[in-house]
Amino acid sequence: MSPPEPAMKLELFDIQGIVGRGYGKHSSAAYLLLEVEAPALARRWLAEKVERVHTCEQTPDPDVPCFNIAFTHAGLEALGLDAEALNTFPSELKEGMTEPQRSRALGDESGAADPESSPRHWDWGGTAAGQRPVHLMLMVFAPSEADLATTIAELSVLLRPGGLTLVRRLHTALLADREGGVREHFGFRDAISQPGIAGLHRTTSGQPLVPAGEFILGYENAYGLLTECPRVHHSLDPDRLLPPAEFGTHDLGRNGSYLVVRQLGQRVRAFWQFLDAVSRDPDGVANPQRRVALAARMVGRWPSGAPLVESPIEDDPTRATDNSFGFHQSDPQGLRCPLGAHIRRSNPRDSLDPAPGTAASLAVNATHRLLRRGRTYGPPLSTTFDPDEILRADEGDERGIHFICVNANITRQFEFVQRSWINNSQFDGLLDETDPLLGTRRLPTGRTTDTFSVPGCPVRQRISGLPTFVVVRGGAYFFLPSISAIRYLASLNS
Ligand code: HEM
Repeated sequence: MSPPEPAMKLELFDIQGIVGRGYGKHSSAAYLLLEVEAPALARRWLAEKVERVHTCEQTPDPDVPCFNIAFTHAGLEALGLDAEALNTFPSELKEGMTEPQRSRALGDESGAADPESSPRHWDWGGTAAGQRPVHLMLMVFAPSEADLATTIAELSVLLRPGGLTLVRRLHTALLADREGGVREHFGFRDAISQPGIAGLHRTTSGQPLVPAGEFILGYENAYGLLTECPRVHHSLDPDRLLPPAEFGTHDLGRNGSYLVVRQLGQRVRAFWQFLDAVSRDPDGVANPQRRVALAARMVGRWPSGAPLVESPIEDDPTRATDNSFGFHQSDPQGLRCPLGAHIRRSNPRDSLDPAPGTAASLAVNATHRLLRRGRTYGPPLSTTFDPDEILRADEGDERGIHFICVNANITRQFEFVQRSWINNSQFDGLLDETDPLLGTRRLPTGRTTDTFSVPGCPVRQRISGLPTFVVVRGGAYFFLPSISAIRYLASLNS
């Protein structure tokens, strides 16, 4: 069942392109994290570049580079946005990802004495003394590394007259597989299941379309309501660059959204070493079939992408992109796809209360969807993603995912998924386990959560001692303004 087209037609010309697509045909990308050094110059730079920001109305030409821009709350302040307007942003944006309560809820500050994912250790966006603030993120997409370098040079963002300085460049490297898909570093096909936005996407990848207001501010969300929008007093927008809103304000949020960015380092060899050790035959001989089957149970899909609910016994590449399935209807006890598998936790589909398996369950699920737009970084340990090759390789370089997701309400969407599903040690009736790929292995209460259960008949398998496979290296929350809002920010004078 799909929601009807939104009552209000989406103003695609005003919505940044990354909401609608991940620019997957642009093989090269970089995320430049910038600090506003000279606000007036930074605003001039924005004014010059705003017409080139790629929008949802334009079809991306894979041969032509393009870019999008997002701002942290500190960045909006540094650009000179008025204090009253700054205060209309949601508290998660104001406080940021590293606020202590939030850090605990996200699992970054766990019960360990000095958790590895603590913002104190982050490479960027963290709380270590002397770390430079991140104000802007420029996301640049190009057909090749050479074009990427040229585009970044043309944008002249790194030149002093831009008024912006580079805090960090996040490199990316898409891991294409032979089947035309992309993989993440553990070797699984990624970018399969995404929510489609009503009024923007036609294809649903097998799932119901989600109301536009779940991803774009100013439109009806899954509750039939408008998500709160940041505002400015009308007197601060004399040129009427922003649409009028109620109570004498102008709407800074409409056609914008929020981005969650987290650099997640992956311990690829450690992942396969652990799986290898726990899947061996009783005589100690490696069992590659059992090894990959257990890894697939942790993900909920086989390396090809085939979902376990459809292919529980072995990989079936013909089902690589299948997405028309529920969990409750076909697999209520997790006998095909374990209840705690990554895709079951991050999108439980029809398994939610109050009435699993019904439209009511899907309606609750629709309020917690994420549009994933990130990319992998670092060299693969094996270009064929063969676990045997990975086991022989040296972990060496840093690699992982720059996890980026678009959502209109960070608390209800990203934070809820991370806290109440991925890191919930009692998810769906389970006990003392979190997401086997990226969950925290210890709760702030000190309780250990390093197990993973594979339901089975007559006996379930319970694996314990899961090490940490994913470590947070950096992160921040960003406002992704509309094109009109970027024009407004560029026009500020302070
Ligand atoms: C290193 C970290 C991660 C890895 C290796 C990883 C891996 C994967 C893989 C292999 C899939 C299945 C392919 C697909 O449907 O696209 C997937 C799906 C998904 N992941 Fe992750 N993921 C990571 C982090 C996260 C985080 C931090 C979140 C959210 C907080 C998340 C949310 C999702 C969602 C919503 C899906 C789609 C589930 C569905 O609709 O079936 N992932 N992930």
